[in-house]
Amino acid sequence: MLLPDPSEVSRREYLKAAVAVGGATGLSACLDILDEQTVPSGAEDPSTLPTRQHAWNAVLDTDDDSNREPPRHHVLSPLEYVRDGPPDDAGRDTVETALRTLERAYEWSHEGLLFTIGYSPAYFDRFDADLPESVDLPYPEPLSSLEEPMLDDADAILHLASDVPSVPLAAEEALFGEADTVNDVDVDTDLSGVFKRTGRRPGFVGEGLPAENQDVQGIPDSEPVPEEAALFMGFRSIFERNQATEDRVTIKEGPFADGTTQHVETDRLQLQPWYEQDSHYQRVAKMFSPEHAKDELVGEVGEKLENSARITDEIIDHIEQDAHKYGMVGHAQKVARGREDGQPLLLRRDFNTTDGDRAGLHFLSLQRRISDFIRTRELMNGEQLATDTAVGQRLNNGILQYVFVERRGSFLIPPRPHRALPEATPDP
Ligand code: HEM
Repeated sequence: MLLPDPSEVSRREYLKAAVAVGGATGLSACLDILDEQTVPSGAEDPSTLPTRQHAWNAVLDTDDDSNREPPRHHVLSPLEYVRDGPPDDAGRDTVETALRTLERAYEWSHEGLLFTIGYSPAYFDRFDADLPESVDLPYPEPLSSLEEPMLDDADAILHLASDVPSVPLAAEEALFGEADTVNDVDVDTDLSGVFKRTGRRPGFVGEGLPAENQDVQGIPDSEPVPEEAALFMGFRSIFERNQATEDRVTIKEGPFADGTTQHVETDRLQLQPWYEQDSHYQRVAKMFSPEHAKDELVGEVGEKLENSARITDEIIDHIEQDAHKYGMVGHAQKVARGREDGQPLLLRRDFNTTDGDRAGLHFLSLQRRISDFIRTRELMNGEQLATDTAVGQRLNNGILQYVFVERRGSFLIPPRPHRALPEATPDP
C-alpha cells in the first residue's frame, strides 16, 4: 500500500493510510501531519500498573450515553519465537524490559497506549507440562460446515491500541528495532532477538472512521456507511450493557489467575447486498431482531438504544417464532442466547480493517474460557435454527451471509507478572 498525496485526501484519511503502511515511513508521515501532538508519558515505575493486562476499562473514554469507547487505532502483530532452545530467563528479561519501555513512554490510557501480549496453544506445546486445568485454550478450528478459516500459527500476538494514530506505530518501531527513543524514552532493548514479527493487522473503530475509509472492496461505490457509525456495517458498537465485565472474563484461579483468553478472528465483509438490497428496516432486523425493526427501537445507527441493545429475555425467547413468522432472526438476538445469569460472556474489543483494500473486521474478544467464545460463535452460526425452522436454509440468519471468516486464532493473555515468555505452569 502506498501513501496518498496529503493534499488530495482528508487529514484523517491520510493518518489512517499511514497507520496501515506502518514502519518508519508510516510513522514519519503520521508525525509530519500531526504537528507534534503531545502524548502523555507513562509510569515511572511500571510495576504499579494493574496485574491484569486487559484492565483497560478504567482508562477508556465514555460517550454521552456512558458507553465505553474503544481506542480508535489498533495494530495486531503476530509473533514467532526465534531463540534457540526453550524460553529462558534471558529471553524473559528481554521481553519484560522491552514492554516496560513502552509503559514508561506512554500513559496507560486511551490517550497514551494500551496493549496486551498473548500466547497461543502452539507456544505452550513446547513445554513438557500441560497448561493448568484453570486455563481453557484449545487450538483454533472451524466452527461450522460453511467455514474454512486459516488457523493462526503464531506463537504470540501483540495488540496495540491508542486514540493517537502515531502511537501504535511508534510502539511497533520501538519493539522491532527501528527506533532509538519512543516518546522521549530511550529504547535499550527490543523484541527482535526473541520474536520475529510475521505480519501486521492494522485497523480502526469509532464514529467517523468507517465512513471515511469506505472506499474499499466489499462496500458499494455509493459510500453508504453513515458518518456516525462505528462499524462498517453501519451501527454503533459497543453498548455497555451488552459487554461482559472485565471480572467476568478474568481467569479466577491457578498460576494464570488475573489473566484472560483472547480470540482473534479476521472476517471479510461483503456489504453490496447489505446496503443495496436490504432496507434500513431489514438491516435493523438482521443486526438486532425483527422486534427492533417493527418497534423502531434503534434509530439510524443505534442512537435510540443509548447504552443497551435492548435484547430482552422476551426477544431471546421469541427467536424460533421470529424465524417462522418473519423468516428472519437478528445477530444480537442469536448471540444473546449465550448469556449466563443474564450477563454476556464476551468482552468485545474488535475493530474494522481495510487490509488488502477490502472491508473487514478483526473480531477480537476476551472471555474466561475459549469455550465461551466457541459456544457464542455457534449460536451466531445458528445452524440448528436454520435446520429446525420451516424456512430452513432460506432463513435470513442475522448477519451471517455478509461475514466470512478468513482466519482464527486463540491466545492466553497472562497476568502482567507472567507476560514475558511464560512456562505452561509458572510458579504463582
Ligand atoms: C461483522 C461482524 C460483526 C458485527 C458488525 C457485529 C455487530 C454487533 C452489534 C451491533 C451488536 C449489538 C450490541 C452491541 O454492539 O453492544 C452485537 C452484539 C454482540 N455480538 Fe456481534 N458483531 C459481529 C460479529 C460478532 C462475532 C464474530 C461474535 C462472536 C461470536 C459476536 C458476538 C456478539 C455478542 C456476544 C454480542 C452481545 C450479545 C448480548 O447482548 O448478550 N459478534 N454485535
